[in-house]
Amino acid sequence: MNLNPDSQFSSEQLDLIADNLAQNGFIILKQALPEALLMQLKQRAQTFDAVHWKQAGIGRAQQFQRDENIRSDSIHWIDKEDPIERSFLTHMDSLRQGLNQRLFMGLFDYESHFAVYQSGQFYQKHIDALKGRSNRVLSTVLYLNQNWNCEDAGELLLYSPKDDQVLDKVSPSFGTLAIFLSEDFPHEVLPAKRERYSIAGWFRINNNQGGQVDPAH
Ligand code: OGA
Ligand code: MN
Repeated sequence: MNLNPDSQFSSEQLDLIADNLAQNGFIILKQALPEALLMQLKQRAQTFDAVHWKQAGIGRAQQFQRDENIRSDSIHWIDKEDPIERSFLTHMDSLRQGLNQRLFMGLFDYESHFAVYQSGQFYQKHIDALKGRSNRVLSTVLYLNQNWNCEDAGELLLYSPKDDQVLDKVSPSFGTLAIFLSEDFPHEVLPAKRERYSIAGWFRINNNQGGQVDPAH
């Protein structure tokens, strides 16, 4: 299966995403990426063995800690050295550019990781970026699970920034992409009944000081 090296979001998709982000702060897209790329990403995630999956933590750099009461998934940071992972980054960079053109968001870079949740694992309600404390501005979650049924559970719950009502209950189905403003939307991952793969990512603005790009995950 060959990957198109120029794979990118279409201008129709970018218009739709930009309109929804401007109006609602979030969007859930189905079949968001090319099937061939999704298949490669899924296969790539399945090739990692225990050594390549790291137990996920919370907080960045010095604040990093592990707490299995908050999240119990395992992660693998996406690396541009791998051709398949690079194709994903290239595709997501077209989203960065498209949103900067349409919404002047000043998105600077993108960090992302594969995540696997074994049956019963979860991520409690959280916000990806604390206001004014992080340079993560836009969150994305791409799902890689074929034939996901209602009974498999493992949904992403997205809560309203205003009143904490559930805005959306997203099934982690192959090709579904959730995009939301990182500082505004609490969300959680419900326990699944089977292995559940995703790629979570964050577009960041450049909070650099003295010309240094902030490198921490
Ligand atoms: C995260 C996250 C959601 C998911 O990693 O911060 O919220 O559905 N992931 O994998
Ligand atoms: Mn999150």
